[in-house]
This record gives sequence, C-alpha cells and structure tokens, in this order.
Amino acid sequence: MRLFAQFAPEHYDIEINISADKRSFTGTTIIKGQRKGRPSRRLTFHQKGLSVKAMSLIHIDKKGQRTEVPVTRVVLQKSFDEVRLHTNELLRGGTFEVTLHFSGPITKNMDGVYPCFFKDNGVEKELIATQFESHHAREAFPCIDEPEAKATFQLTLTHPENEIALSNTLPIKTATNNKTTTTQFDRTPVMSTYLLAFIIGELSMKEITSKSGVSIRTFATKNQIEHTAFALEEAAKYMDFYESYYDIPFPLKKCDFVALPDFASGAMENWGLITFREQTLLVDPDTSLGTKQFVALVIAHELTHQWFGNLVTMRWWTDLWLNEGFASWMEYLAVDSFHPEWHLWTQFAVNEQQLALKMDALEHTHPIEVEVKHPDEIRTIFDTISYQKGASAIHMLHDYLGNEGFKKGLRYYLKSHEYKNTDTVDLWQALEDVTKKPVKEFMHAWTSQSGFPLLTVEKKDDHLKITQTRFVANPASSSRKDPTLWPVPLLAPGLAHPTIHKKSTSVHHSHDRTIPIKLNRGQTGFYRVDYSHDIQTTQIESIRQGEMDVLDRMGLLSDGFEITKAGYQPISEYLDLIDSFRAEDSLPVWEILAGSFGSIRSVLSESDNDNNLRDLMKPFIQNYVHLQLSRLGFQERDNESHLDTLLRPLIVSLAALSDDEETLAEIALLYRKKIDHKAAINPDLRAIVYATAARLGGKKEFDELWSLYEQTQSSDEKLSIAAAMTSFVQPELHTAVLNLLKAEKVKFQDVPYWIAYSLANRHSKLETWKWLQKNWLWMKKNMGTDLSFSRFPVYVARTVAEDNLLDEYQTFFTAHMEPIIARAYAQGLEIIQTNVSWRKRDAQAAAMWFSDQIAQD
Ligand code: BES
Ligand code: ZN
Repeated sequence: MRLFAQFAPEHYDIEINISADKRSFTGTTIIKGQRKGRPSRRLTFHQKGLSVKAMSLIHIDKKGQRTEVPVTRVVLQKSFDEVRLHTNELLRGGTFEVTLHFSGPITKNMDGVYPCFFKDNGVEKELIATQFESHHAREAFPCIDEPEAKATFQLTLTHPENEIALSNTLPIKTATNNKTTTTQFDRTPVMSTYLLAFIIGELSMKEITSKSGVSIRTFATKNQIEHTAFALEEAAKYMDFYESYYDIPFPLKKCDFVALPDFASGAMENWGLITFREQTLLVDPDTSLGTKQFVALVIAHELTHQWFGNLVTMRWWTDLWLNEGFASWMEYLAVDSFHPEWHLWTQFAVNEQQLALKMDALEHTHPIEVEVKHPDEIRTIFDTISYQKGASAIHMLHDYLGNEGFKKGLRYYLKSHEYKNTDTVDLWQALEDVTKKPVKEFMHAWTSQSGFPLLTVEKKDDHLKITQTRFVANPASSSRKDPTLWPVPLLAPGLAHPTIHKKSTSVHHSHDRTIPIKLNRGQTGFYRVDYSHDIQTTQIESIRQGEMDVLDRMGLLSDGFEITKAGYQPISEYLDLIDSFRAEDSLPVWEILAGSFGSIRSVLSESDNDNNLRDLMKPFIQNYVHLQLSRLGFQERDNESHLDTLLRPLIVSLAALSDDEETLAEIALLYRKKIDHKAAINPDLRAIVYATAARLGGKKEFDELWSLYEQTQSSDEKLSIAAAMTSFVQPELHTAVLNLLKAEKVKFQDVPYWIAYSLANRHSKLETWKWLQKNWLWMKKNMGTDLSFSRFPVYVARTVAEDNLLDEYQTFFTAHMEPIIARAYAQGLEIIQTNVSWRKRDAQAAAMWFSDQIAQD
C-alpha cells in the first residue's frame, strides 16, 4: 500500500541540527496536509533508522479552527520503513498538521545524510551531503516518501559556524550563535521528497548568470574549484537551451552544480542543487577528451531533469524510465546543439543504443515500463533498460514525429502537467494530441514488452520477404519462440511499407538493383536485421566502394556480430564482413570492430588449449589497424576532428594488445618519461600507457602506479590508474590489489570499478571471483546500497565461458540470493550459457579463419 493513499502532504517545515561531531542529527518537522482514504485510527509516515516522537497532531477545520487529537502510541514499523501514529479518535478526511521530533545517525553509506571525506593541504576534512533518490529522504526526516506526494518544503539547518550550507533554494536568514550557524532557506516549489537536498561544509564557488538571469554556480573543494570552469560555462549554455526549448523558465533563482568527494552514482538532479561525483564535473588540462565530453553530457542530463523529472515527475517508479530514458536522450540534443563537431548522434548509436540492444537480448531483461513493489527493487531498475533502451525508444519516436512535432508535444506535456505527476501514457497522449499521429499505438509495444525484434530479410525476385521474431542471445532460450510482435519502422527509402506489423510481410522492392538493400537507415530503429547471403554480398561491395554511410556501416557490422554470437549465422559470415572494413576510418565503426575482437579473443579463446586463437589474432589485428595507426600516430594534430581524437586511443590500444612492437616501444618510452621525469602524457593515451606498462611490467610498475594514484588529485587519472593496476599478469600483484581494496585504501565509491576491471583481466578473474565470494558480506555492508552492487553477478558472468565455473556461480549466488541481485543473477546465467555455446560452435572456425588470413597477408 502507498502511504500517499492515506495522507497527501502540502507543506513541510523542517529543522535539522547537525551534531558538532557530524555523526548524528536531531530535528523537527511540521507536516501539513490532507488526510484521505478510509477513516482509521492511525496516520503513517515513512522513516528509516530514525527515532521519532510525536509532539502534536492537530485537526484544522474549514474555518481554520485547530483541535488537538491526542496521539496514544508511536510505533516504528521497521520492516516497512514506517512510523505509525495511533489515536483513539477516528481520523477522517480533512486538514491535519503533525509535529514530529526526530533524531538519526549520519552513516557512511552514501545515501540519506552522509559524510564526504577529502584532504585540504594534507588536513583531513569532511562535508555533509544528502542523496535522497530513490527513497532515502525518510532517513533524514519523517515524510511521505513517494514521488507522487509532492509538497513545498522549508528547511532550516543548524551546523558548525564558518561552514557554508546549501540547499535547493537560497538562504533567507542566517544567524550565528555559540559556534553554530542557523541557515533558513526559501520555500521550495511543489516537488517530490527525493529532490530535496542539502550540503554543509567548506566549499569554494564560481558563478555566472544565465541569459534569463538565473544564477549558475559551481562548487567544489578549494583545490578543485578552478577545474569547474568548463562545467560552469556548459551549464549556463544548457540552461539557456532548455528554457527556450521547453519554453518554460527555470523556476528558481539559482542552480548549483556541486562536485562531491564521495558519491554513490554519477550525478543527481536535486532541484536547484545538482550534485556530482568529482569525475563527472571537473575538467582540468589533463582530462581526457572522452571524459570532458562525458562531463558535458552529464550536466545536460541533470539539467534537463529540472523540467523533465522535477517539474513533471513520474507517478511511481514503474515509470522511472520516463525520467531517465528521456534525459539520456535529451542530453545529446542539448550538447549537440553547442558542439555539432562532436558528432554526438553517431556516438549515441554506439554508446547508448548498442548497449541497450545487448542487454535487451537477454531472456531475463524487463520491459521499459516495469512493475516495482519492494523499495529494494527500485535500485535495480536504474539500469540499461530504463536508461539506454528508454533513450533509444525516444530516439525512434523523435525520428517518427520529426523535430518540430516532438518539441511542440513536449512543451504541451510539460505545461499541462507542471508541478504534478504522470505516467507513460500521459506523454504519448500529449504528443498524439499535438502531432495527430498514433503515438500510443506506435510506442506501446516498445515500452510494455521485453526485448526487440530481429528482422530476417530475403530477396525473392522483385519482393523482399521480411519476418520478425524476438531476438534472443542465448540459442537455448525458449523466448526465441515468443510470439510478441512490434510495429517496426523499416526506414528504407524506396520500400512501399514504412512500418511492418505482422510476423511475415512481403514488400515490393522497386529499388534500383545496384543499390544494396539496407533497412534501418540511420539506425534510429530499435531492432536488428539478418540479411540473406546474397544481400550481404551486395552490401559488402557497397562498403568496399565507400558508398555506405557511417551509421549504416556500424549497424551492419554490429548486427552481423551479435547475430553471430547468438548463433543465427556462422562466424565466417561475420569475419568475411569485417574483411571489407580494412579502409574504415570512423570511430563508431571501429568501436564495434574493437568490441568484437575483444569478445572473440576473450570468449572464444577462453580455455587454455584455445590460446592458439589469441596468438593467431595478433598478426591479423596488427595488420588490420596499421592504416589507422599510421594515419593517427601518437600525437594529436592541429585541427584534427573530434572523432579522430577519440579514435586514436582505440587504435593504439588495439595495436598494443596485439603486441605491435613499435607501439609497445613508444608506450614504454612515454611511461618512463612520465615516471622518471614527470613528463605529461597525452591525456587521451594515458590509460593505455599505464595499462600496457602494467600488463608488461611487475612489482616496480605496481609501486610506481600506486604512488601516482596516491599523489594525483584528478579523478580521471585515478580511474586510468585503477584500470592499469588491475592489468598485471602476476598472481601476487592481483592479491596486492585486492588487499588494497580490503584495507580501504580506495574510496568505496570507486571499488566497484576496481572489481569489474579485475574480473575483466583474464589473469586475475579467478582470484577476484574467489575473493568476491569470500568478501561478499563486507561488500554488502559497505557498498550494498550502491547501484553497482546489484550488477556484480553480471560482471562475474561476463568473464566466464566455461562449464565448470557455471556450477560455482550458481551455488554461490543461490546461497546469497536476495531481491536486488535476482535479475542480474538470471542474466548472468544466460550470459554464461551464451558464451559457452558460442565457444563450442565457433572457436575452431575462428581459429581457421585467422590462420588462413596470416597465410594470405
Ligand atoms: N537520477 C539519477 C541519479 C540516481 C541514480 C539517483 C540512481 C538514484 C539512483 C541521475 O539523473 C542520473 O541518471 N545519473 C547518472 C548519470 C547520467 C549522466 C547518466 C548516473 O548517476 O549514473
Ligand atoms: Zn537521470
């Protein structure tokens, strides 16, 4: 039962006093609102980990007359995260005002109210911050902690003097007395509890003003504040962009962007007080281009939530995707409008859409609109389906409606639901009302059903026979027989049917025979295509002639690879296809190529006796990347394209991994210069230089890298060192890494990366998996509320393609089963089965193909 059904809050007055040691707080809240539903003798609020005392319960009648209703008992119902106020009197509908006194702890897991740790000139310091999404406001004060329970909030904080206090709104009053300062903030707009936030501590600030006069401010610890300059400028641009795109002014006087030294996720859209982990906000001269671009996207993502999410909010977590899928699409639109030379939409097709297609190919995926019951399940749906598949669905719809219709529909949606809540259908309805197109009919299948279609295309004289079935990665899965159908936009100019609905459709193909058949032009559709051999032959010819657009090449290649892995076609078909990409020079296509080489290498040569394949691939890859390697080199050129700068690290890493001698020598040189003479490395190549030095190095490099890790302030560099320190071959260095984690030498916020990287290193994966089993409870205690915790079963499974580990995997996770890992466990099983069956099918054929190539080259 939702607590909103019995009480609808209208306003909260909240006072919170942080203790001098910053380990606990006390507070008072006065909640005014409407009692609803069946009359009963109790009133219930959310709380978690608080002690609560009821000071008063007052009924206010229509004339404003106040009558106290005695509270007879206050019961903390721990298993429901509730506090129940019992009365002898029957409580009926009407206005009530409740005053509750509470106290609670400040604990290290990064939700609710939590501390952040940092060093200022060697001195240990602390900030206090909050993270309330999805249901952690209840850890800070009693409330109705559901997105539909929107209210206004007026917060007053008491904290040590000389520290600044930030919240969603500006302060309206401050007073200092007895070494403490009290800051009272302005009333917030009507909003959900998960968007409330505050921060207390020593932070520095930068400020500019948006075109419309909103004060845009960035905050960071003193030594990092200069590195917020890029973020500040970008933030102001996107503020202007959204105010004009949505045609609704930002409703607050200021919007803050704060880099926090400890942060569980990437960033959080608290209304007017957006919080980030340092890595997603700070940019310095040593930041890689990829990270800088990511910072821009994250800022645009969180800022778009200020309208889509904060002003208009999903009614319940089932429609979380409305927030996250939409923002994951809109961030690209906003950033692209200021940085067209970044070609973000081609990056979208790989980074978002292809990722979604991979996860959604599992039988144990879930529909975009997903039922959530237990609060613990909410965390598990902040996943690739809500984000990347959601964004991909919006992408397809945007293409279907066109720019103008889409924008007008959105404006209408936001205006008609502002300060209220919606579900998916409300968005479709608004777009439909404005564009007069059948949006509901088109979109329903995509958001309410699991998976996506595989189109099989065969040419028969002047017709194409197109069949749709659900694409499932695991050949053994019964979901391949799932009768689900989708309305699929064919996106092939010249074909008579724009959209197919049936299982099997015969389409007249009037096309010029010399132009190859390629569906899903521009790759805006969320599906894969399997072409018959004769069609593929004409496509290959067209690629060789340089006639096919980059996204279409990317699409053909990724579909070809995933179809192969899933056993719909033999690997030779895919390998013949990549042979026609020898002149390829674009980033998105190379990402697919590199990904497929990586999978072939790691899955097909999994067991030691297949090591042969790994070696056979090396000369092939050296040869294959040669052209791009000599085009790009190690040095950035003046005026080179953004995508070339991003491509360089990919090419250099392929060359390094295939032990290309010149590349290894160059890397060794750069590494020694950095360590011995502090010579800066091109930030885009830094990760590869470190990782390669580690892969080919030993204890000496381990110590050098760790000392760099401890010295650097840059989270971008820290991350590349983490990737390197988990790349060693020697078992004793794997143990050393795991010991560092256990000794808490690495911030908890970063531990999941280290573990995921260690699992991805074939030399350390077994030991890491054993360690993970042994330290599961420690992980759960320290990172259990973190998003990535629920993903560990998938991280483990990705590295396994052997039957014997399957048993161990099953035994361990069934013994430690709980709701938050249930889906990831089932997905992991599928991933392992798919890997094992792929290896059995194709390992030998792949080895043969690569050895034939060596003979030819
Ligand atoms: N609302 C989320 C933050 C969040 C995630 C809160 C999970 C609670 C649980 C925010 O808008 C978001 O999506 N952040 C992303 C970064 C973004 C650029 C994709 C994240 O944290 O990964
Ligand atoms: Zn988001």
